[in-house]
Amino acid sequence: MNQIKPFKIRDIEINPPLVLSPMAGVTDISFRRLLKARGGIGLTVSEFISVEGLTRNNPKSKRQMRFYENERPFAVQIFGGQPERMRMAAELAEEVGADILDVNCGCPAPKVVKHGGGSGLLKDHPRLEIILSEIKKAITIPMTVKIRAGYYDNAINAVETAKLAEACGAEHIALHGRTKEQGYRGLANWDLVKQIKEVVSVPVSGSGDVNTIEQAFDRFRETGCDGVLIGRGAMANPWIFRQIEDAMLGREQFQPTLEDKRALLLEYFDMLREDMPQLAAIGRMKQLAGQFTRGLQGGALFRTALYHSHSVTEILDRISEYFETITAGRRYFGEAGPTHEIIEAPALDSCEAASVTAVS
Ligand SMILES: Cc1cc2nc3c(=O)[nH]c(=O)nc-3n(C[C@H](O)[C@H](O)[C@H](O)COP(=O)(O)O)c2cc1C
Repeated sequence: MNQIKPFKIRDIEINPPLVLSPMAGVTDISFRRLLKARGGIGLTVSEFISVEGLTRNNPKSKRQMRFYENERPFAVQIFGGQPERMRMAAELAEEVGADILDVNCGCPAPKVVKHGGGSGLLKDHPRLEIILSEIKKAITIPMTVKIRAGYYDNAINAVETAKLAEACGAEHIALHGRTKEQGYRGLANWDLVKQIKEVVSVPVSGSGDVNTIEQAFDRFRETGCDGVLIGRGAMANPWIFRQIEDAMLGREQFQPTLEDKRALLLEYFDMLREDMPQLAAIGRMKQLAGQFTRGLQGGALFRTALYHSHSVTEILDRISEYFETITAGRRYFGEAGPTHEIIEAPALDSCEAASVTAVS
């Protein structure tokens, strides 16, 4: 088996070689801070940030570039289709102190693709070449790309895109092995990660469907990739990076207790309230709780109780009640007893929803 070891993006060590995959509407400053503190993350990436917003001084886009010093190494990811704006946004990312500038060539949202950005760049290599070359000339920090398998299912071109990106100076290539047409359906094709690894000399990482320690190990072994990105799996299990690192180092694997889970929710809520206005914090809290409590005893009813909460106190009360009940070994029935209608958390499975506000 290949030995799994840290890798470098120029002189930046990614150790362990595990990346918190960028997720619009999720991997904001609080979420990254929460997960980084759990351990096992070698690189964090911002949510994708609209270059239109950034270069037109949209305060939301500027806020999305914030990070904490102890988060380093940290990459800012930008999306857009206009070379001049992409260059300006890349310069801004360098100015705010990001370690790496990542170019999004994967978002399938129509609003993003329509303007030539995201996965639109996969079917317009001349435009991609201009954008990457312009950025490369303008910044001194490493430029990296995150791509998809291709735009159309019948025109897989990840290898060509990766070669082009390397020729334009990209210093790391991350592949999410689904096409734009596929969206988030089916499974990611990791064979393409292997194929890219064989033809470029910069480090290559893979993304898609890694939800367990075994899957991470299998993907490293099968593809020889340098790094693995984890997105949705980290919402369900914020300790996944730590657990993979434990396994890599032959340490006993960390297993969170109920108390750890309760503490995590409370810590996240504190961080959110520190980092953003109260209403936004409540919204984000419900979102993580929605993913994180899947599989917990009474989790669906707990999520429902949280969805019905509208204030900080209510949220805190619901968390206390829930954990007190299940820690005592009792069944949790939510606020209104066993007949309460269950509200399921909306599936969080794309950059689409977030892109609507990101580019407007
Ligand atoms: C809610 C959500 C938002 C996403 N936003 C972004 C994004 O802003 N930039 C990006 O490169 N990929 C984005 N992705 C794709 C993920 O980074 C990742 O490549 C994909 O989800 C597959 O990995 P996973 O199975 O580990 O989640 C997003 C995915 C999800 C689920």
